[in-house]
Amino acid sequence: MATLVKTFMPTERTFIAIKPDGVQRGLIGEILGRFERKGFKLIGLKQLIPSRDLAEQHYGVHRDRPFFKGLVDFITSGPVIAMVWEGDGVVASARRLIGATKPLESEPGTIRGDLAVNIGRNVIHGSDGLETANFEINLWFESTELNDWHPADQIWRVED
Ligand code: RTP
Ligand code: MG
Repeated sequence: MATLVKTFMPTERTFIAIKPDGVQRGLIGEILGRFERKGFKLIGLKQLIPSRDLAEQHYGVHRDRPFFKGLVDFITSGPVIAMVWEGDGVVASARRLIGATKPLESEPGTIRGDLAVNIGRNVIHGSDGLETANFEINLWFESTELNDWHPADQIWRVED
């Protein structure tokens, strides 16, 4: 019983998005599967074509960079899969699953290392820290779109 109570405590959340290139290339299932198999819990998922305003807020930290306009053009060019994943240490772990920003520098075994070659077409976004994750989750999702649920097999994934 103690194990169950501990397992069901609220934990860390991160925002993950499959970018338009990942959707167009038919990589949704491949990418989702990697997070599922790792043992993280999907608590929010939707497909949308981001508005320019949403994209500019999301990448606001890069507003003054030369690649900003191209990045916003790209991210608003087609459907994106927006997700919230939950689990202990999920923010940093997701970044490791994703790999380095430049796909030619990301390790084989990572999403970008296995599935991408170009920095401007690197298939996936992941929050880069806890604060960013909170900001991005609130930017992309209403609280009613996130589901608090308990996987029946959780007890097999998390040691007491
Ligand atoms: P993201 O935010 O998309 O998850 O990527 P990241 O943290 O790994 O990299 P970040 O520095 O936040 O850059 C955001 C996205 O901008 C594009 N970029 N292009 N041409 C360039 O030099 C350049 N630098 C960054 C990439 O698509 C990167 O994912
Ligand atoms: Mg980033």
